[in-house]
Amino acid sequence: MATQPQHHRIGILGSGNIFSRYVTGMARYPELKIVRVGDIDVDRAKRAAGEHGIPGWGDADELYGDDSIDIVVNLTPPVHHASTIMRALDAGKHVYVEKPLATTVADAKTVLAAAAASGRVLGSAPDTFLGSASQTARKALDDGLIGEPIGASAFIRHSKAETWHPDPRFLFQAGGGPVLDMGPYYLAILVNLLGPVRSVAAAARIGAPVRTVTAPDRAVDSIDVEVPTHASAVLVFDSGVIGTTMMSFDVWDSDLPAIEIYGTEGTLTLPNPNHFDGDVRVRRHGEADWTVLPPVVELFGAVGTKEQARRGLGVRDLADAIEGGPHRANAAFAFHVLEGLSAIDGPGQVTLLESTCDRPAGRFTK
Ligand SMILES: NC(=O)c1ccc[n+]([C@@H]2O[C@H](COP(=O)([O-])OP(=O)(O)OC[C@H]3O[C@@H](n4cnc5c(N)ncnc54)[C@H](O)[C@@H]3O)[C@@H](O)[C@H]2O)c1
Repeated sequence: MATQPQHHRIGILGSGNIFSRYVTGMARYPELKIVRVGDIDVDRAKRAAGEHGIPGWGDADELYGDDSIDIVVNLTPPVHHASTIMRALDAGKHVYVEKPLATTVADAKTVLAAAAASGRVLGSAPDTFLGSASQTARKALDDGLIGEPIGASAFIRHSKAETWHPDPRFLFQAGGGPVLDMGPYYLAILVNLLGPVRSVAAAARIGAPVRTVTAPDRAVDSIDVEVPTHASAVLVFDSGVIGTTMMSFDVWDSDLPAIEIYGTEGTLTLPNPNHFDGDVRVRRHGEADWTVLPPVVELFGAVGTKEQARRGLGVRDLADAIEGGPHRANAAFAFHVLEGLSAIDGPGQVTLLESTCDRPAGRFTK
C-alpha cells in the first residue's frame, strides 16, 4: 500500500512577482500547506495573504518565529538569499530558496556549511530540470539514444524583463544578469544530463550600460547596469563533453535553439528550460527528420499555458528529502551550478571548478 505523504507547514518569505506562481503551483500538493507570508513590506504580505486565503502574515521575524512552520520557501531577491537562508536555518526550518543559492560562491559556501551544521534540509531552484522535458532528455541519454555525448550548446536570449517586470532592478545587480538569473535553468539541466563541470573558459561584458524600463506598472524608469549582460563560455564536463554557451540580455531576438546535445549517433534538442514541459526531439545520424520523444514523466500542462509558469515541484522534492527520499534539487547541486555560473560571469579566464556534485537521480521509472 502506498504511504501517505507527510503534511508540511510552509511559510513563504517574500511576496513579490513570483509569489502567486508558487502559491498556485503548490496547490497541486495539498500536503504542502501554506500557513504564513512574511515580507519586509508588511502591507504587501497582508495583501498577498488576503488574495490567496493564507491565514498568517507579517514581517520576516514573525515568520522565523512561527514554531508551527517547518519549511521556509524563500522568494526574496538574490542579494537577500544568503542572510535569509541563515536566519531560517537558525530558526530550525528546512529551506527551499529561489535561484541563485547566493550571489557569490563564498556566501554560498557559508550557507552550505550552515545547512550541514543545522541538520535541516536546504534545497534550491531551479526545479524545471525535474520536469518532463528535461527528464525525457535524461532518459534518452541514459538509454544511449544519441550514443556517447560529445558536445552541448546552450543559448540564453533576453527575457525582456524591462518590458514586464514592475521592478527589474535586481536583474541588473549582483546576483542578476543573464548568467545568474537565467543561467541556473540551463546549467542545472546540463549538469542533470551530463554530470558535473570540470572547467570553464569565459568572457563577459556589460552591453547597454543603462536600461529603459517600459513595464506598464513600473517602479523605476531606468536602471544602471552593474553586472555583465553578455557572456560566452566553453565548459568542459568531467565526462569529457565540451559545452558552448552564450548567455545574454543583449540578444533580444535570435533563432538559436535553447539547448542541444550532440552525440556520436545523433542530436537531442530541448525546449525552453525555464518551462517544465515541451517537445524533446531527436535526430539520429542519417534520419530524414526529427522525432518528438514521448514524455517519460507526467506533464504539468500544455506549453504556453499558465501551468508552465507555476512553481512548487522543488518544494515537493525538498519534502521528499525530509521524508527520507532522494533530494534532487539539493544544495550541493545548486552550489556546483552557482560555481560554474560564477566562472562564466567572471573577468574572462579559465577556471577549474573546486566543487563537484552527484548527477541527480532520474525521476522516471525504468
Ligand atoms: N519574477 C520571476 O519571473 C521569477 C521567476 C523565477 C524565479 N524568480 C526568483 O524569485 C526571487 C524573487 O523574485 P521576484 O521577481 O518575486 O522579486 P520581487 O522583487 O518582485 O519580490 C521580492 C519580495 O521579497 C521581499 N523582500 C526583500 N527582502 C526581504 C527580506 N530580507 N525578508 C523578507 N522579504 C524580503 C520584497 O519586499 C518583495 O516583496 C528571485 O530570486 C528571482 O530570481 C523570479
